Amino acid sequence: MSVLLTGGAGYIGSHTALALIEAGEKVVVADNLCNASREAIRRVEEMTGTEIPFYEADVADTAAMNALFEREEIESVIHFAGLKAVGESVEKPLLYYRNNLDSTLTLLETMERFGVRRLVFSSSATVYRDGNAPFSEDSPLSGSCPYGRSKLMIEQIIGDVCAASALSAVILRYFNPVGAHPSGRIGEDPSGVPANLMPYISQTASGKRQALTVFGGDYPTRDGTGERDYLHICDLAEGHLSALRYCREHEGAEVFNLGRGESVTVLELIRAWNRANDMDIPYVLGPRREGDVAVTYANADKAKKMLHWEARRSVEDMCRDAWNWQKQNPDGYR
Ligand code: NAD
Ligand code: UFG
Repeated sequence: MSVLLTGGAGYIGSHTALALIEAGEKVVVADNLCNASREAIRRVEEMTGTEIPFYEADVADTAAMNALFEREEIESVIHFAGLKAVGESVEKPLLYYRNNLDSTLTLLETMERFGVRRLVFSSSATVYRDGNAPFSEDSPLSGSCPYGRSKLMIEQIIGDVCAASALSAVILRYFNPVGAHPSGRIGEDPSGVPANLMPYISQTASGKRQALTVFGGDYPTRDGTGERDYLHICDLAEGHLSALRYCREHEGAEVFNLGRGESVTVLELIRAWNRANDMDIPYVLGPRREGDVAVTYANADKAKKMLHWEARRSVEDMCRDAWNWQKQNPDGYR
């Protein structure tokens, strides 16, 4: 029996594929490669000495999903597939709603048709309403952009399906996953100019970008810059294994935050990078980025108590591993 990873060739999916295989799970990947490279899965195969059945398919394609579920013995699904860029979702809301909702609906229908009853879903901390961090799972919700609202809608759909059927689901709200596998073989490979902080720092370190612009120095935070809950990608990958185990032993739908439960400012992250990699990242202070919130971090107690999962890696580990990946793969998987 296998675990199907939709979107498994992406950043979080590829690291999770590795963690699952290392824990003895069998993995199948379905990805349409709209934001990923086949090379990521090839490298996971090389690292684990395991062949991973790979389906280049749109999860919203019913015929393709039927064919996959007929061919493979799927026991559970981790649903990573989705579009995730906040800014793009504001410009192209229909693309985001169509892709993220359709793929989930087709997946849920296919799972029901084939009697597959366990689902782990990638949600996001972006579903929390701004202003009352640390967020616990019962904090007020409100999607702040079409991307966030698509996640919120999917959480509700999954809840409804669990209530009406034998589906058992774990919804994971990730905070800010960063870094790469310490081997430097797999990592984050954004296309174009990175929209997120850590890949921008990495590319500044490698000389691809001249200097980092810090978006806002006048937030009501420790040093005026935005605070986030950065989480090592390998800790996050391991969180999926815990979620899968939980899902196998429990009925219904349950939501968990995956974060470290600690906030780090932009300037603190730059300093951690400089310490970990013996560098001096050039930066300039710029205006706030539209849509940004001042502070986001998790109350991570529920995952600790019920999933027996807790992030172990430090901010320096994240910075060191991000740089190791960047150095070894200056052009990502290309
Ligand atoms: P990613 O873009 O690297 O991975 C998503 C994968 O899904 C890509 O490989 C893409 O090709 C694939 N995909 C998209 N639509 C598809 C479809 N219709 N059919 C098949 N494949 C499709 O992103 P990621 O960072 O690995 O994120 C994985 C999931 O976690 C996403 O759902 C994202 O919204 C969520 N998430 C990510 C973050 C983050 O900061 N990276 C934070 C919170 C939540
Ligand atoms: N930042 C900069 N300069 C940059 C990029 C970012 O100063 O070049 C700052 C931002 O203003 C923010 C912090 O760095 O204060 C983190 O920004 P990111 O873009 O790395 O991450 P966000 O918290 O804004 O968003 C991320 C994902 C979203 C997800 C959200 C939820 O990009 O998809 O986390 O936790 F929804």
